[in-house]
Amino acid sequence: MNALERKHAVVIDAPDEVKENEPFEVEVRVGEYQEHPNEPGHFIEWMELYSGDTFLARLSLTPEKSHYVMKTTVKLDHSHPLRAWAKCNLHGLWEGSKEIKVE
Ligand SMILES: [Fe+2]
Repeated sequence: MNALERKHAVVIDAPDEVKENEPFEVEVRVGEYQEHPNEPGHFIEWMELYSGDTFLARLSLTPEKSHYVMKTTVKLDHSHPLRAWAKCNLHGLWEGSKEIKVE
């Protein structure tokens, strides 16, 4: 990873396996490997979470005051990978993903 990739990497924390339609917690973070700026001229505008192509959650952010962490609780009925997006106002869209098994 180069410095730009380290600053924008989208990390998803979730269990490797969950039970079908049973709620579980997911945390999505940016800046895990290198802190991303958080100022009016350069910040993360929003984060989104999907299961495959199915929308699950969205967080809108404001510079300086909100951190790049989205915590939510979801439930799934299919084993599609979790996918998260983060939008930097200067550097565009960044994606992270995590395999998750639904039983
Ligand atoms: Fe950026």
